[in-house]
Amino acid sequence: MTEVILEARHLRKEFGGLVAVADVSITITRGTTHSIIGPNGAGKTTLFNLLNGKYHPTRGQVILNGEDITDTPVYRRVHKGMGRSFQITNIFPNLTVLENVRLAAQALGNSNYRFLRRADFFKTYVQRAEEALEVVGLTPMAYSPANVLPHGGKRKLELAIILAGDPEILLLDEPTAGMASEQVPELIETIGAIRRKGDKTIVMVEHNMNVVMNISDRITVMHQGEVLSEGRPDQIANDKTVQSVYLGELYDLPGRQQ
Ligand SMILES: Nc1ncnc2c1ncn2[C@@H]1O[C@H](COP(=O)(O)OP(=O)(O)O)[C@@H](O)[C@H]1O
Ligand SMILES: [Mg+2]
Repeated sequence: MTEVILEARHLRKEFGGLVAVADVSITITRGTTHSIIGPNGAGKTTLFNLLNGKYHPTRGQVILNGEDITDTPVYRRVHKGMGRSFQITNIFPNLTVLENVRLAAQALGNSNYRFLRRADFFKTYVQRAEEALEVVGLTPMAYSPANVLPHGGKRKLELAIILAGDPEILLLDEPTAGMASEQVPELIETIGAIRRKGDKTIVMVEHNMNVVMNISDRITVMHQGEVLSEGRPDQIANDKTVQSVYLGELYDLPGRQQ
């Protein structure tokens, strides 16, 4: 097991004449929570889609566990341990919360289970689903239909669905997008719970600085398709370049020394 789990090497993505990501290199350390922040248009979502395989880079490579996966399609990245990104639309509203997670566990199921008898097989997936629900705090809702969950609950369910596939690395694109602000702390706490378990690497793209400050081990700041700065949250909060170029105007930074 290498210390570095995921690497972007000189990634560039052009759309027609527009350079969305110019030349981005990032190293993600195994077991850490690494956030990518920056204002709208910085190239975060484009970078995210280069990492998860939705986009093919104009230049550069994506390396997962030492293997060049630049040309590996999305579905095969999932089987290499890369958890799907946040897609709330993947929830089946009329199935129970547990069934939703069990189906995900089964769909992305580890082929090591193939030798099991059908009944044991099923039990294994139910167990995995129950564990995932426990981590995100949805155990009390396990037997409710998914559509009764409030928006924040659906986001937790999405996290459980990703966890059920037992990925090594979770890629989350703006997990708090569209949430009422009073629901945000609970979701962040849930991501924090996954982080504290320590067995997952989390890569999170966010525009909201406050969201990532307390939950990240490292933060990469993007600006106009480039990496502007990278460091621990306290370093980023006090980084003069980050502040002077744009963060100070956009965000009220917690822990920032005036
Ligand atoms: N599919 C696309 N086609 C053309 N331009 C795009 C596309 N996706 C993003 N862009 C442009 O690339 C730049 C970076 O966008 P994006 O990666 O979405 O930034 P962010 O997620 O940081 O807001 C923006 O100028 C955006 O308009
Ligand atoms: Mg975006």
